[in-house]
Amino acid sequence: MELFQQNVKAALDRLSAIRIVPVLVLDNLEDGLKMCSVLQEKQLPAAEITFRTEAAESVIRAAAKEFPGLYLGAGTVLNVRDLHRAFEAGAKFAVAPGFNPTVVKEAVKCGFPFAPGVCTPSEAEQAMELGCRFLKYFPAEAAGGVKFLKSLIAPYKHLGVRFMPTGGVTSANAAEYLAVPEIAAVGGTWLGKTADMRAGNWDAIGQAVADAVALVRSLA
Ligand code: 3PG
Repeated sequence: MELFQQNVKAALDRLSAIRIVPVLVLDNLEDGLKMCSVLQEKQLPAAEITFRTEAAESVIRAAAKEFPGLYLGAGTVLNVRDLHRAFEAGAKFAVAPGFNPTVVKEAVKCGFPFAPGVCTPSEAEQAMELGCRFLKYFPAEAAGGVKFLKSLIAPYKHLGVRFMPTGGVTSANAAEYLAVPEIAAVGGTWLGKTADMRAGNWDAIGQAVADAVALVRSLA
């Protein structure tokens, strides 16, 4: 438990400095590495690579070597197998849309920073009881947005819990989330849309990433 908590703290320190995490659904290794090179070039040094596609594990493994400056996490980690695949491939943290106690317990055992997804007080309490102090708030906008999250945080502030909202977060509302002290970072797919990658719209992706970096700098 102690190692887990130490590593979660280190992950939160990094994510709180980076503030915006692109959530990536990657068709293949090539797009994954190209996306990482855009992130490196534009100086947005993080990504959540989702296990919604087969490419996730190989992208994390290759990108961890090729882009050591990027803080790479795994997303959509729905089971213990994918948790281990992410960890062994070199992911530095992992998140999931929901709260699965089996996955949380395994992450605690491995000391692997993991943020389960919650959007109710009951889920938050169950996750915290297992030792989690880093939670994903999903689906953020549909669940009630910043207003709901602030109410959800209120009774747990004294426990030092931190959140990463995703789901409906965009360049239009990211600043509103990031103004909440308990929000370490926000995540979203608007920074590297799969459709844009498929269409080769790398300039549009680069612009969205540059805009996100400018937003973070304007908040500092
Ligand atoms: C996630 O996995 O965190 C969400 O799918 C991201 O949601 P978005 O597509 O609304 O950014």
